Amino acid sequence: MIPFVQVMLDPILMDPWHNLSQWIQNGGDDKPTLFAIAHDKPLYEYAGDDAKFNYLFNKAMASDSRLIISVMIEHCKGVFEGLKSLVDVGGGTGTVAKVISNEFPELKCYVLDLPRVVEGLEGSNNLSYVEGDMFKSVPCVDAILLKREDPFYNGNSQLCFHVPST
Ligand SMILES: C[S@@+](CC[C@H](N)C(=O)[O-])C[C@H]1O[C@@H](n2cnc3c(N)ncnc32)[C@H](O)[C@@H]1O
Repeated sequence: MIPFVQVMLDPILMDPWHNLSQWIQNGGDDKPTLFAIAHDKPLYEYAGDDAKFNYLFNKAMASDSRLIISVMIEHCKGVFEGLKSLVDVGGGTGTVAKVISNEFPELKCYVLDLPRVVEGLEGSNNLSYVEGDMFKSVPCVDAILLKREDPFYNGNSQLCFHVPST
């Protein structure tokens, strides 16, 4: 978890907190976010313009994901049983999907993320990286996994697992 703590304490992510009162006075809405008030652009646009921050951020997400997926496999393995395909939307460098694809060799896993995050990453037999924008399209699959960090609201990870109805 060291990379996660390091990035959370980096001035790039700490500075936005100085704008908390302004953000609350604006109504506490998502737009602009605390991050955008401090840096004049949204988090992922900023990461796209700052290669060092992008690298540290992706590494931090991966370290947190190792913990989350190990707990998920230990306690919630059943949710994956019977699925033929799954996409981890905004799946970063694929830490979560790699573990799932190893545990379930018959399950076809996709990691959808922005081109700069997944470009050059190698998949495997049952794991593929897809460059794209989740707001435009996602692969057609049995289940959608969405794990997000939300340091600007409550500091928690949220993990959603959705099986679309047919
Ligand atoms: C908070 S990180 C979580 C990463 C990963 N799910 C994890 O938990 O380790 C959010 C991820 O969403 C990706 N992302 C942001 N906007 C996106 C978009 N429009 N389409 C696809 N991915 C996006 C980011 O590049 C980042 O990897």
